[in-house]
Amino acid sequence: MQARIAPSDLNLEGATLIAGVMEGLEPLPGSEEAIAETTNETLKAAGFEGKAGQTLTVTHPTAAALLLVGMGDEVSYDSLKSASGNGIRQVKTDRAVTLLARTDVSGATRAVTEGSVLGGYEFRTYKTEGEGLHAQVVEIVDGDEAEWQTALTMVAATILARDWVNTPAKDKSPQRLAELVADAAGEADLEVEIWDRDKIEQEQLGALLGVAAGSDRDPRVVILRYRPDSGHGHLALVGKGIIFDSGGLSLKTAAFMEEMKDDMSGAAAVMAATIGIAHLGLPVKVTAIAPMTDNAVGGDATRPGDVLRPVDGPTIEVLNTDAEGRLILADGLGLARRFEPDLTIDVATLTGAAAVALGKEVAAVFASDSGVADQVLRAASRAGEEFWELPLFKSYRKSIDSDVADIKNVSGSRYGGAIVAAVFLSEYAGEGPWAHLDIAGPARRHETTGEFVKGASGVAVRTLIEVAKGMAEAD
Ligand code: BES
Ligand code: MN
Ligand code: ZN
Repeated sequence: MQARIAPSDLNLEGATLIAGVMEGLEPLPGSEEAIAETTNETLKAAGFEGKAGQTLTVTHPTAAALLLVGMGDEVSYDSLKSASGNGIRQVKTDRAVTLLARTDVSGATRAVTEGSVLGGYEFRTYKTEGEGLHAQVVEIVDGDEAEWQTALTMVAATILARDWVNTPAKDKSPQRLAELVADAAGEADLEVEIWDRDKIEQEQLGALLGVAAGSDRDPRVVILRYRPDSGHGHLALVGKGIIFDSGGLSLKTAAFMEEMKDDMSGAAAVMAATIGIAHLGLPVKVTAIAPMTDNAVGGDATRPGDVLRPVDGPTIEVLNTDAEGRLILADGLGLARRFEPDLTIDVATLTGAAAVALGKEVAAVFASDSGVADQVLRAASRAGEEFWELPLFKSYRKSIDSDVADIKNVSGSRYGGAIVAAVFLSEYAGEGPWAHLDIAGPARRHETTGEFVKGASGVAVRTLIEVAKGMAEAD
């Protein structure tokens, strides 16, 4: 779907006009004229009260239809965004014209652009019936041009991540996903480096190789470099790229395996965010690293009790092959350290425990210090994404002492699982500023509402772009 600012000679022919209505049937500022010919009695008779989530299509003198969208009892950035998403899915014409931006909410154009385009997102690659079901174009009346441009870049990056994550594991082998990323990164003028198995062996990424050992499909490492002419600092991003997580020999049960094509959501987020940052031309150096492999079962798969040697840092006794994300991230973080970044952020669908702690809609943040945690949380809030900080308890380190190696990959207890995983990663993150985002909960949405469509959410993409923006604006 496309979004654009409405032309000044706006013609409503064939279009659905979208107008916001508050709870109590007060039109949103700018929508009064559009709904002038519709009486409150008509609306009430149809059961429309302007509540958040409600929509109603009525006739309009010049447009193909008038779609009323309930705003609930407040006009805010979030209500505009979610009303835009709820509205766009009800449009039956190819073109929509939205009046929702005529408010004094700061960022209204961005909220409407994000809500409409993300809410109207459809993944139809594998649907036999051709075209998309929703409107193809949304025009925003009185929108702010610059804000709209930025929002479109954020949205495009989020959609890139959603598309990659929604793709079945069969069709995104490490090799193929690396190519898809390289294609998108090439268009953004990023430097792309792809490591194949030989190179990965030569570089001695023993943890990644250990996870890849059970799969017939070779692993890859993708490295994107964004090097603007002038830069405020260097951001390193590392993403978990498990194409499909069967659990390995510590096999998952069928129900837990169903959604495991999502397990490369961290890699998708860091790759897509870097592409977004490059399209925005932000003055920050970025290096993004994504180790990619299946976690499969095979004759030479890593066995519980095996010891792996990552490129740098403690040797690892693998007691549970289903705790594989932390293994490939150990190598990813080891590589990131070579670039001596000012800030490193890793993103991963790392633990079911993070979702148990915070629910499925909120991502966990762990940080090396409170300054870094604030930096990420502020970025998340500007991005309109929900993150919550969890503690990195140093005292939990002893629960992963190994009898035979320097560290083991699981504690053997379910309790505090997200924290134990983060403490494990801290061993490989180095001494510098570092944050770990566990997106196991919100990587996938189970309900279509507002900006979200059932399936991959693209979570963390916009937050990472906002982190880069924050660095660019700092002096
Ligand atoms: N990819 C999973 C985590 C996950 C679970 C993501 C549910 C999305 C939804 C990860 O590799 C995993 O299997 N973690 C284990 C760790 C355990 C063995 C210590 C888990 O969470 O059960
Ligand atoms: Mn696993
Ligand atoms: Zn996993």
